[in-house]
Amino acid sequence: MVTYFIEKCNEVVKKKNCFSVVLSGGKTPEPIYRLLTSKKYKDQIPWKKIHFFFGDERTVDIDHPDSNYRMAKDSLFDKIEIPSENLHQMYTGSKDLYFECQVYESQLDRILPKNDHGVPIFDFIFLGLGEDGHTSSLFPDSTALDEVDRWVAPVYVEKLKSWRITVTFQIINNSSNIVFVVVGKNKANIVKDIFLNGHHGKYPAESVTSKNTIYWFVDRGIGERLF
Ligand code: 6PG
Repeated sequence: MVTYFIEKCNEVVKKKNCFSVVLSGGKTPEPIYRLLTSKKYKDQIPWKKIHFFFGDERTVDIDHPDSNYRMAKDSLFDKIEIPSENLHQMYTGSKDLYFECQVYESQLDRILPKNDHGVPIFDFIFLGLGEDGHTSSLFPDSTALDEVDRWVAPVYVEKLKSWRITVTFQIINNSSNIVFVVVGKNKANIVKDIFLNGHHGKYPAESVTSKNTIYWFVDRGIGERLF
């Protein structure tokens, strides 16, 4: 996983002199972010050329344990030197989450190249997988699943009784390199269901599609259940 990210990052920076990456939240990616800044890998990454974005954010303060920004700051940003203008935090502090989404969309519009339909193109996106098959904050039965106009949308997560904001599928699916990172035996069945039982549309993660290869990095326990 780490070497794949480093390879793609250097490949793109060599071509474009910059690299845009969407960070996933939750717990799974934290050790990966820490590994990227470890002595073994840190110097292989052109940090100052990278623009960091977020796939979703919870409606909590930046110092709240559930904040995706806080997790990335603790495990990644605080260990590297990059221009502050390269960090694109998703703000969720105002009561008007639609406004916050528009603010974030304007950043994507300003910074990222677009496809023929005007949709921003990220170079790389990290995605996690929830036990219910959600990814980013695109949860089952949420209104954001069918969002075709917005690039970033507010979403109320009934089971968590909380609001979040999330990138939508048109942004995810327009990314050049899509990577799922899934760890934990509690997710083995869902990964197996997605891979071995075909696309039956039961899980939001199945709506992640791409003209490029989508890579799934899973732990050994999950991998052994697939083959
Ligand atoms: C979030 C993530 C979400 C996460 C999954 C898995 O903000 O929660 O974007 O999609 O990747 O919920 O979370 P864990 O890695 O904590 O299992």
